[in-house]
Order: sequence, then C-alpha cells, then structure tokens
Amino acid sequence: MCGIIGTTGAPDTCALLVAGLELLEYRGYDSAGVAICDRATGGLWRARAAEHAGSIGRLRTLLADAPRDPGASIGHTRWATHGRPTEENAHPHLDCTGRIALVHNGIIGNYRPLAAGLDARGHKRSSQTDTEVLVHLVEEEVASGADLAQAVRRCLAVVRGDFAIAVVRAEEPDVIVAARRTSPLIVGITASAGIVASDVAAALATTRELYALGEDEVATVRPGGLEVVDLTGRPVEPRRIEVSWSVQRAMKGGYPDFMSKEIHEQPQAVRDTLLGRLDGSGCTELDELEIGERELAGIERVQFLACGSSFHAALAARQAVEHWARVGADAEVASEFRYREPVLAHRTLAVAVSQSGETVDTLHAMREARRAGARVVAVTNVVDSVMAREADGVLYTRAGPEIGVASTKSHIAQLALLQALALHLGRVRGSLPAGELERASAAMSTLHLAVADAVGRGEEYCRVAERFAHVEDFYFLGRRAGLPVALEGALKLKELAYVRAEAYPAGEMKHGPISLIEPGVVVVVVATRTALWEKVMANVEEMRARGATVVAVADDGDEETAELVDAVLAVPHVEEVCSPVVNVVPLQFLAYTLARARGNDVDRPRNLAKVVTVE
Ligand code: G6P
Repeated sequence: MCGIIGTTGAPDTCALLVAGLELLEYRGYDSAGVAICDRATGGLWRARAAEHAGSIGRLRTLLADAPRDPGASIGHTRWATHGRPTEENAHPHLDCTGRIALVHNGIIGNYRPLAAGLDARGHKRSSQTDTEVLVHLVEEEVASGADLAQAVRRCLAVVRGDFAIAVVRAEEPDVIVAARRTSPLIVGITASAGIVASDVAAALATTRELYALGEDEVATVRPGGLEVVDLTGRPVEPRRIEVSWSVQRAMKGGYPDFMSKEIHEQPQAVRDTLLGRLDGSGCTELDELEIGERELAGIERVQFLACGSSFHAALAARQAVEHWARVGADAEVASEFRYREPVLAHRTLAVAVSQSGETVDTLHAMREARRAGARVVAVTNVVDSVMAREADGVLYTRAGPEIGVASTKSHIAQLALLQALALHLGRVRGSLPAGELERASAAMSTLHLAVADAVGRGEEYCRVAERFAHVEDFYFLGRRAGLPVALEGALKLKELAYVRAEAYPAGEMKHGPISLIEPGVVVVVVATRTALWEKVMANVEEMRARGATVVAVADDGDEETAELVDAVLAVPHVEEVCSPVVNVVPLQFLAYTLARARGNDVDRPRNLAKVVTVE
C-alpha cells in the first residue's frame, strides 16, 4: 500500500509534493513525509507527520522550513503494515549517514534476515518498518563505490517481496532512482523536469509524457532525462502510457466530497462502460478481450477472482454468466483462491475483477489461475495497471478516476461490464433463447437511464436513511441477484459508518442468525419484483415477527411491498439479471448518510486504503 511521489527539476517542488500526496492519499493516510536534496547545504532535508488524515496538512506547515534551493525530492503517504502509524515509522527512511532517503510501497518479505545482517554489521535502524532495511542496503553499496542507480539494483537483487521505491541521495541532487516489482510506479519527464508517482493522476500535473515501469526495472530520472535498466543493468525501452484522464476529472467538481461526486457520476460510468460494446440490436463487441469467439465458445468454466466490492460485482456476474451463457461459473475471494491449490476445469476462463488493477491478492490469484492453465482476463478501471498488463485480455470499465476509498461508480461500472461479458458469452456460445439477445442488449443499452433515475432519488434515500442514523445493528438480506446487492450494502455501511452490518441470503437466516433478530435491529432487504419475490417477503415476515424494523429496496410504485415493511427505498424496475446496477444505489446513499451523521470522513474511512497492495 502507500503512495509515492518524486520530483526533480520542477519549479515548485514543495507544492508539487503536497499536491501529489493529496492525490495519492487514497492509497493510505496513516502518515506522510518528504525528503528534499538541499543544493545550498549539500545535505538532505526531511519532514514527517503521523496524524492520520491530518498528516498532509501538518506536513504542509513543516514545509515552510524546507530548503530554498531544492534538488531531487521524494514524498510518501503511508498505510501501515509493519510498525505502528507513528512518525518514526513514517517514510522517507534515512540511512545511517542521513544522506540517502527512500520511500517504499509494498512489503519486503525477507526483511527480518536482512535486518539481522544489517544490525550485525553495525547499522542503526530507527523504525519498526520492513522498508528501512532497503535504505541501509543501498548505503552499503554506495559505501563500496556504487552510484545510486547501481546501488539500488544490487540491493534489490537480494530482496524478496513486492515493492515500488524511490530513492534520493545528497551527493546526486538531480537524481531520483525508482524501481518496482508488483507494486505500480510511473515515471515521466519534460524538457527540464522529471516525475515519479504511484499513479497517473499524481504525475499529470507535471507531464503527459509518462512511462510505466516494468517488473524489476530500475529508472534513473533526471530533469529532462530518463534511463531504464533491468536488474542486471541492461537498458530497457520504457513503455509509454496513453493518458486519457485529465486532472480535472479527479477533482471534487463542486460536491462536498468525492463519494457524492462519484455516486452522481454513476449513470455516465455505466453509459461510457457499455458504449460501443452493446447496441439495442443484439450486437456485442468485446474486441479488447483478445480471446477469439471460437475459443470463448469452447470455455467450459468461468472463474471470477476479486476482493471487496469487486468480489460482489463478481458474484453478480456469476449469476449473469450462468443465466445467459449456460456455463458453470464461480466467484471466489482472491486471497482464498490463491492459497487453495485450486484445480481448474479444462478450458477455464479466469476473470480477475479489480478497480485498481493492483490489489495484490487479486493479482496473485490471477497468476495462480494462469499457472493452473486458465486463460486470464482482467476487468479493471485503470489503463495499463499491473493486472491489465499481465492478463491475456483486458476489459476496461470506463468509470474515470475514483478517489473515494469505498468504491461506488467503479463497482457499478464493473457490474454493467460483467453483464455485457455474460451476454457476449451467451451470444458466442449460442446459448440464448431466440430474441433474448436483442431484448437483453436493448435493456442494457438504456441501463444508465435507470441508474440516473435512482441517483436522482438520492435526497429521498437520505431522508429515509436519517431515520436509522443511530441504529447499531443491521442485517442486509437478498436472494439470487439481490444477494450481492445485500453484501455490498452491508460492506458500504461497515466501511463508512463503522456500524455492524451483516449480509445474509434471506432464505438462510432461519438456520441460525434469526436468533439475533429482536426489536431495535434493522433489516434491509432487496425486495424488487422477481420470481422469488414471494419467498423474500415470507423471509421478511419472519424478521418482522421477531420485532425487526424492515427497510425494503422495492420497485417504484409497488404498494404491496410498501405495506408489508416499515420503510421503502424505491428504485426503477429493471429485469433481475441487470438489477444489481440499480438496486445498489440506495444502499450507497444509506451508508453515506449514516457515515455523515456520525461525523465520519466518507472519502477516507479509518483503517482502509483504496489500493491494497499488501496481502
Ligand atoms: C479495498 C477498497 C475496496 C475495494 C477493494 C478491492 O479494500 O477499500 O473499496 O473494493 O480494495 O479493490 P480493487 O481495486 O481490486 O477493486
């Protein structure tokens, strides 16, 4: 986890560092820090702050004392893994001489033996982090005569684990050395400056000439100059990134927070994501899949792999694939799949679903699926992300940059795109009943309008939610397509409002959890009209009989459902397979309202990070 920024040669070093760190805060905000080469003194200046979401603000104050003639500089925003979120554990870390500084995103798997060796050789470590070993290893190489780039290469040769790093050294005040394995890193140059960043958005203020560092590549970034080599020192041609986002799109645009902005961008995200991939006449085009229709037709199983909200999108997709393509499908949490020694069916299509394209559990699960013989497709929102690069084929959601830590628009875009994939599979396999392809693709090509309708009811949803603002116990129930929605609703509430919320298949409640139902518990149920509506309502009766207050996500105008529950979150009706895209919207507003009522930061909930690049 964590975000890295580095700048050299640009006119306003401090402003660039702070702006970059602010854009990278979604990757973690336990602490923030910078190290700046001081041309005037020939030394290195460092400032760090560990004040949770206030770290960058504090750092900005400290930067008033920053060197007036800055050289190469690096900054870091941290999500703690090894060592508590204190100032002494905040990056950048320094070597024993105080003349080399390093920032790191990832985990050094073998840091313990490396640290023991360093301690035995007399190094003084001053943090509990895994990261600090790296800067002392670089120090040893520099002491033996290497320049910074050589030193970093040699040091990385003995390191196991995942990393993106940026390093500066007082003696080479123009240079930032950057390297990566698994964790992402972007480098870029202009005629007079150089930039290093964990993502494109943070680098865009400097330049659009950006390059994605490859696995085990080491870049030397100077004002106007870039050299990339592999770990043996052999030159590598850097890979240019096509940038389609503007920084503007990553700003709040008049909304009070990124979450509400991103909720309101959902109709556009669905529209953009489906654009050109489906039309109302039954055509499906997923060319970027890079897997031909004949091969797709021969797929015998689909295995979805994902974490968090992406996993819930995958669960919905499993149903869509079985419904339309009539091929067996599974969805599994990536962190479990990875270590299960999975046995995959012959001709399995593995679909890794990840907003960021970086979540390390999903990345490793994807690699595991490939090792087990699957063809691998990544569904991601980030162009050129690690998963996009490693998969056989990639399908991009087109939700634009998502900054709020808890995912909203990217989740909805995933749902829509995975439904399109399911329909596409149905078409190429010839498994759809006559007329279904035309009907379903026509319905999906207007799905963004239903999402717009739901988002437009936001105030109404917030008013309902306010009635439950201080409830501490929630259950979320659903069946079939309603279950992933219930799971996502509960996750949102936990993530943002810090409220206990359990999601369950409605029909399974009677096998245990029903003993927890009593007055004071609120049950949120997905009760839109499907073939299972009567069964769902029978489950609702079981909850009400035990004193629960029931809130239903129900079709607009469904008086019968409204009479049977205590409150309704009305949604426009869409057919069941597509319904998660619409039905999840009121649950996002529910979580948003409860979080705000409790004074929580909806964009940066405690203990979470947007991009989880640790196991
Ligand atoms: C983190 C975020 C979640 C997200 C999950 C998976 O836990 O807080 O919002 O759903 O990671 O992220 P991915 O980028 O793989 O979709």
